[in-house]
Amino acid sequence: MDVYEAVTSRRAVRGFTDRPVPREALERVLSAAAWSPSGSNLQPWRVYVLTGRPLAELKKRAGERVAAADPWDERQYEMYPPDLKSPYGERRAAFGKERYSALGVTREDWQARQRAASENWQCFGAPAALFCYIDRDMGRPQWADVGMYLQTVMLLLRAEGLHSCPQMAWSVYRTTVAELLAPPDDLILYCGMSIGYEDTTTHHPRTGRAPLEETVTFVDDPTA
Ligand SMILES: Cc1cc2nc3c(=O)[nH]c(=O)nc-3n(C[C@H](O)[C@H](O)[C@H](O)COP(=O)(O)O)c2cc1C
Repeated sequence: MDVYEAVTSRRAVRGFTDRPVPREALERVLSAAAWSPSGSNLQPWRVYVLTGRPLAELKKRAGERVAAADPWDERQYEMYPPDLKSPYGERRAAFGKERYSALGVTREDWQARQRAASENWQCFGAPAALFCYIDRDMGRPQWADVGMYLQTVMLLLRAEGLHSCPQMAWSVYRTTVAELLAPPDDLILYCGMSIGYEDTTTHHPRTGRAPLEETVTFVDDPTA
């Protein structure tokens, strides 16, 4: 698979089969992703991979919290600025509309939206998941490094025939994740990532993107 195909075929997949993900594929992907760039080569990512019984236990405990309407854990970082100004607010609204209308859920049907969102904590059925932490002392550039790393992981997963869904949603149940992983205290859970083979029966239309001129400015030689 060439790089363009990996980039364009990567999507946030929210429906996986239970076909197990080979440990060797995960090791290949994570060994290659370690070559991701980072400022001064700090490599600020700290990753845990869960499969099998430990992942089943995590899903069970998270499911219990959802069922009990347990409040979310105290935030360690803000997922979004409180007031999303234009054009970000519009893009977020468009995404919500795309995501829920694909499921046949209306904006007003809060319960159905909650049910769909709660699939996050079942990893959308995926048999493997990765949890990416970052040291709380790290600054914005290192968070950006972690983003590059995670994208590299997701592209390499495509080369293995696998799909993924990055999930900040896991950060709201970070204490439950920590019960299973016991990470050192100085780490913050940035996000989880569901990993597996796509359940093509739950295929959704692709999300859109802003036109290039909205996000990219070319500054060329001035024309005479
Ligand atoms: C850091 C990060 C966190 C995300 N968290 C979630 C999440 O918690 N749940 C979810 O369903 N999708 C999540 N997504 C997926 C985004 O909604 C998705 O990437 C975006 O809508 C673009 O769609 P695409 O990835 O399918 O191209 C996340 C994406 C990123 C990069």
